[in-house]
This record gives sequence, C-alpha cells and structure tokens, in this order.
Amino acid sequence: ASLELGPYRHFMQKEIHEQPRAIGDTIEAVIDNGAFGAELFGKNAEEVLRDIEGVQILACGTSYYAGMTARYWVEQIAGIPCTVEIASEYRYRAAVANPKQLIVTISQSGETLDTMEALKYAKSLGHDKTLSICNVPESAIPRASKLVYYTRAGAEIGVASTKAFTTQLVALFTLTCTIAKLRGRLDAEGEASYLDCLRQLPGSIQHALNLEPQIKAWSDKFAPKNHALFLGRGVHYPIALEGALKLKEISYIHAEAYPAGELKHGPLALVDEQMPVVVIAPNDALLEKVKSNMQEVRARGGQLFVFTDEDSQFGESEGVHVIRAPRHVGVLSPIMHTIPVQLLAYHVALARGTDVDKPRNLAKSVTVE
Ligand code: G6P
Repeated sequence: ASLELGPYRHFMQKEIHEQPRAIGDTIEAVIDNGAFGAELFGKNAEEVLRDIEGVQILACGTSYYAGMTARYWVEQIAGIPCTVEIASEYRYRAAVANPKQLIVTISQSGETLDTMEALKYAKSLGHDKTLSICNVPESAIPRASKLVYYTRAGAEIGVASTKAFTTQLVALFTLTCTIAKLRGRLDAEGEASYLDCLRQLPGSIQHALNLEPQIKAWSDKFAPKNHALFLGRGVHYPIALEGALKLKEISYIHAEAYPAGELKHGPLALVDEQMPVVVIAPNDALLEKVKSNMQEVRARGGQLFVFTDEDSQFGESEGVHVIRAPRHVGVLSPIMHTIPVQLLAYHVALARGTDVDKPRNLAKSVTVE
C-alpha cells in the first residue's frame, strides 16, 4: 500500500488531491468533442434524450447528494422538472411512472443493491429511458441501463467517497447541458461559456486544495466536539449535506446539515457557544440571505466557520472564522466548495485518530440490503 500511497498518509487524502486529474479525465470526452451532445452518452442517445419530460434521479449515500446538486442545474439550465430520491425509498413505494421521464441512476461502484433494485423497479413500471453515471466500467448498473456516462475518477479505495462525488457532478453538469441543448435552451454563446467553466475547473480545484493548511488549522477546534451543524442554501445546500456526511463517516462527530433558511424552524435551538457551525457561503445571489442566517447563529453565541470566495467581501470577527477560495467559479461553484469540506473532515478525523480509510461499521460498496 505504501507504494500506491506515494507521499500521502491515507487513500482518502490521496483521492482528495487527485481531483484535478480525475475531473480533467472525466471532462476529456466533452472537451475533445468541443461541444455538449447526446453522443457522449452512448449509441442512439439522442433518441432517448430528445423528448424527455423530466428527470428522476435515484441513488444512495454520497451519490444521492450529487443527484440533489444536479437537480438545481437541471431545472435552471435545462428547464425540465427534476426529482431526486433515495433508491431504497423509491424501490418500495407505489411510484407513479411517467415513461417520458429519464431515469438517472448514480453509483460509484455500479453494484449498490438498492440502486440496482430501484432501477429494476423503474423499468417494471414502464420506464425505458435509463441512464447511469458510474465509475466502474461494465458493472451491473450501467449494464442494466440504456445510456451511460463513465466518470474517470480511477479506483476509489477510501470508504468515504471524494473524487467519485466531484466527477459525478461534472458528469451531471454535462448531462444537464446536453439536455438543455437538445431542448433549444442553450445557444452557442452559452455553450461556449459552460465549456469554458469545465475547462477551468481542474485549476480552480487545485486552488481550493491549496487551502489545506488553513483548514488543518481549524481541525483542532472541531476535534473535541461532539456535534456540528453545516449550513448552505440553494445549490450549496447539498454540499453542506455532503460535508456533514463526510464528518460523521470518518470522525464520528454527529453532524447535521440544514438549508440555512430552515435554521429558525428547529436547529437554532441547538446553537450555543459549544456548537461549531460550518457555512458554505459563496458570492452568489443568496449570499445576503446566508449572511443574515449567520447573524442568527452569532446572536446565540455559535461559532461560525465560513467557506467563501474572494469576491464575497466579509472578514473575520469574534466567533467568525473565514477561509476564502480565490474566485467565484459561477455555476460550478458547488464542485469547488466540496474540496474544503472534504479536507475538514479528513483533518478532524486525523486529529481524533480514527481509521480514516476504513471507518467503523461502513463498507465501500453495499451489495446487500
Ligand atoms: C456506501 C459507501 C458510500 C457511497 C454509497 C453509494 O455507503 O460507503 O461512500 O456513497 O455506498 O455507493 P455507490 O457505489 O452506489 O455510489
């Protein structure tokens, strides 16, 4: 293992740092193609994708959060309804099928039993437009799907998923832009600008990775805690969920994520001087709203740990710790903001001395119910 690990202590750390490469490889087909297009998803994909009336995403764990993020893109950019459901819930409920919906399964391993069964169930209800986003070629879920987009993260060994998640996001963004184009909602200028966003993403991810020393400095403040809250809004809410999941998986700190606007409907009761609150607060249209949510936390003595970007212009003050990524990367911002929450979980787990790559009670691939 030491050979494979190179300069890294854990596979998770190595996999976090591989993300510029993993994302670069995953977008290669799109960049080489010079355009978004159905051909990126397999043979006869245009026929499957052309007349869809909506998207239903099914997945588990981290892959489910990738789906939740994509929902914001699909409705905003492609302009069709998108719903996202935990596979183990969907498979056991009397779902109303619409065969004009595209069923999208997301799975790193391609072998997760619940996701596979949810796909089979969708097919039994009459769905035949099926697409899978998967990291393992020729695994069960892509084999059972009409279309596939393979992420090229490479083997992921750490149980806590990192590079699989961010590459799923670029695959889902590519799918969104392709559907938008087929529906006449993406003109040449818009397409060129989204392609450019993708091209620049590996560089932006590298900038985010360079924040590691600052994030590590925060980890001592989290290590003695038993609870943490994560807040985000809009497309960054699922990133807050993913940040909380990473922290609980590997450090065993109880962490919960909330959409920041929901704070007043319950979780605010938990906030006191002991409660660290991580906020994903990029400079987007919701920033002012997030700032007032942060004040609600401060007013109760909560300690804020804010991930933002250069453009957002707010500084540190008592009880408000800030780490700034270099620039706001627009529509792909949730991908960039994933990096700091991954690094935070990693360094907190290191400080607590847990088994980072093999957290207790969890498995990399869950092929049983
Ligand atoms: C397990 C893993 C998670 C993963 C989930 C879904 O719980 O520990 O990291 O997100 O399964 O796995 P999949 O391979 O379907 O993405």
